[in-house]
Amino acid sequence: MSKEKLKVAVVGATGYAGCELIKILLGHPEVTITSVSGKVEEAEKISEIFPLFKGRLDLACDNVDVPAISKAADLIFLALPHKVSMLFVPEFLKAGKKVVDLSADYRLKDAGIYEKWYGAKHTSTGLLKDAVYGLPELHKKEIVKSKFIANPGCYPTGSILGCAPPVNKGLVDTEQIIIDAKSGVTGAGRAASLALNFAELNENFKAYKINQHQHMPEIDQELSNAAGSKISVTFTPHLVPMNKGILSTIYFTLKKETGAAELLALYKQFYKGAPFVRILDEGIFPETKDVYSTNFCDIGIKVTGKRVIVVTAIDNLWKGAASQAVQNMNLMMGYGETAGLAL
Ligand SMILES: NC(=O)c1ccc[n+]([C@@H]2O[C@H](COP(=O)([O-])OP(=O)(O)OC[C@H]3O[C@@H](n4cnc5c(N)ncnc54)[C@H](OP(=O)(O)O)[C@@H]3O)[C@@H](O)[C@H]2O)c1
Repeated sequence: MSKEKLKVAVVGATGYAGCELIKILLGHPEVTITSVSGKVEEAEKISEIFPLFKGRLDLACDNVDVPAISKAADLIFLALPHKVSMLFVPEFLKAGKKVVDLSADYRLKDAGIYEKWYGAKHTSTGLLKDAVYGLPELHKKEIVKSKFIANPGCYPTGSILGCAPPVNKGLVDTEQIIIDAKSGVTGAGRAASLALNFAELNENFKAYKINQHQHMPEIDQELSNAAGSKISVTFTPHLVPMNKGILSTIYFTLKKETGAAELLALYKQFYKGAPFVRILDEGIFPETKDVYSTNFCDIGIKVTGKRVIVVTAIDNLWKGAASQAVQNMNLMMGYGETAGLAL
């Protein structure tokens, strides 16, 4: 007799992350999608909203109806904007569902920091302690036992993975970690805005929210945990006229001179059990095309005396969002970590 598949729901299915989630989940051997929802004028087949799903998923996409979704599915992915997610997460958890939330609403442990950076009152602070920050390379043990995952942001994923090994070993002068990150346009979501018009973006390259991007406290939180002391990074995000991908160039200084081979060995050792982190050989640096539509984070390292430059590449909608959410589901459910995610 064949094993029953896990029933999953995608809430926020009409957005970029929701669409990628459906693509990945349709190829996952252990799950079946039983509900898709979002914010719609009237119910419409998801295969009409995204014709790529024609003949593969013909479910109707309707507005979010928590009792109906809870009846249909056992694990809920929420790919909703921040502030909206926290309206629904408590209800799904109350209904006994497992939840993977892709928004920022439960990533920051300190509600005051959330309120400062996201400009909104946190309406379910009681659940912050229950949310596990879903970066499997740092928190696998907690994820495996968790029912509720706060899936990391895209910039934080590439930034934290690039710094964590030497920061965790106490090798870095933590006063000056500088992250210069460049993202493709899907990072801003699918909703229309003037700044995201083709004519505004094309043949243009700009920095924005310099040292005031809302992902900074998330990077600080996780690197501070890894270091065991408070870290505040310097962070400049950029918008690149390409659809997907984040390339992060990270600069820091070591407390004492360490050879390139030694540092590479440290990274490889740190990520030994991490199937989706690839440490590149000396002199080789990642490109966004190398990780396009994959769950990989590729890392290249240049050491010059005490100075280190680390370059990381991820796909913002995959390792930075949807495929990382599936990696988290795999760990929560006891499936193979790479199930449904191998190329
Ligand atoms: N894009 C990335 O690279 C990325 C990476 C990591 C994490 N994330 C996070 O993932 C979440 C989704 O991001 P995204 O880029 O997919 O955004 P998006 O393209 O704007 O999609 C958001 C989805 O939420 C729906 N929605 C908005 N308000 C709603 C409401 N009040 N009730 C029900 N549904 C509502 C939207 O429906 P409509 O289409 O009708 O508005 C859409 O389906 C965000 O929290 C984002 O920060 C995104």
